[in-house]
Amino acid sequence: MELNITCIPGDGIGPEIVREAKKVLDKTAECYGHQMKYTDILMGGASIDVHGVPLTDEAVETAKAADAVLMGSIGGNTTTSPWYKLPPDLRPEAGLLAIRKALNLFANLRPAVLYEELAGACPLKTEISSRGFDMLIMRELTGGLYFGERKTVEENGVRKATDTLVYDENEIRRIAVKGFDIARKRRKKVTSVDKANVLDSSRLWRSVVEEVAKDYPDVALEHMLVDNCAMQLVKDPAQFDVILTENMFGDILSDEASMVTGSIGMLASASLNDTKFGLYEPSHGSAPDIAGKDIANPIATVLSAAMMLRYTFDLDREADAIEKAVKEVLKEDYRTVDIMSEGCTQVSCSRMGDLLAEKICYSKRR
Ligand code: IPM
Ligand code: MG
Repeated sequence: MELNITCIPGDGIGPEIVREAKKVLDKTAECYGHQMKYTDILMGGASIDVHGVPLTDEAVETAKAADAVLMGSIGGNTTTSPWYKLPPDLRPEAGLLAIRKALNLFANLRPAVLYEELAGACPLKTEISSRGFDMLIMRELTGGLYFGERKTVEENGVRKATDTLVYDENEIRRIAVKGFDIARKRRKKVTSVDKANVLDSSRLWRSVVEEVAKDYPDVALEHMLVDNCAMQLVKDPAQFDVILTENMFGDILSDEASMVTGSIGMLASASLNDTKFGLYEPSHGSAPDIAGKDIANPIATVLSAAMMLRYTFDLDREADAIEKAVKEVLKEDYRTVDIMSEGCTQVSCSRMGDLLAEKICYSKRR
């Protein structure tokens, strides 16, 4: 099979981690008889430096022409980087929001899993972490506060800013359907998170989710208020299977969930539209402080590449091989510095990529 992939190395550690993910993908292609075709585009600060804007129309067209996009990370230090002196719509993050919208990537899947080998890094009490957890946050990605009308005005010498949280029922329905579909393939439970005790948008959210649930009698649905969810994530994360929520709540809760795993450097994500197309990126940011030092953890990007093989290309065996390679390398106690613990062997970003790549064909042979 020919896999036509647009890569966005981006900023900070982005180029390093994408390089390692490609190394693992190339090895996978070699072992399983596929051809990888990569085309790089610029986005974020890297694009600002060359084109003066965080995303060009040409870059969007290139991405659209591919089967999938594999992204590293974008953005820099918000207090020191000159990119943050630009107007908000010309800053690195505007490129990310623009590509999500242009490609209609409304469904953002963020798994948060406690790896057995890394349980020691979990900041929760052992009595909680020992139960393990494996949840998936299904975050709506092209609506809500991120894309509602916003403005800052001055009235009678007083500055006033407005952001709008708007959803129509179709936007809610399509993400709910994705949430229930994926719950069906997992432990068949959806926790829909909202703020229905205050917000109209949440009350609509809740009623549309209820309607969709009728088509999934085999999936259990519960509603949870977002403030309570924030609490439950640290009190009893094992209770969650699929968390279904709007854009802003999902942004916040997914950072919390990833922190609870203790290893944000391990968490992948997928942003999907209604077709097989998807944009795959690690859940973590661009970590400008460690960029270029070859010490970043490439595993989240490698696992994002595995998600790409699974969701866009239906290559489950190949995705399994990558996920298995990650587990084996961890079992052999190799660690990048962010997940390092006593008695383990600390390795660089590129060495981690080599170790993972070495395991791929080995897993096929067995
Ligand atoms: C994320 C990030 C982005 C978001 C930023 C960089 C715009 O925090 O992907 O979670 O808020 O969606
Ligand atoms: Mg975020």
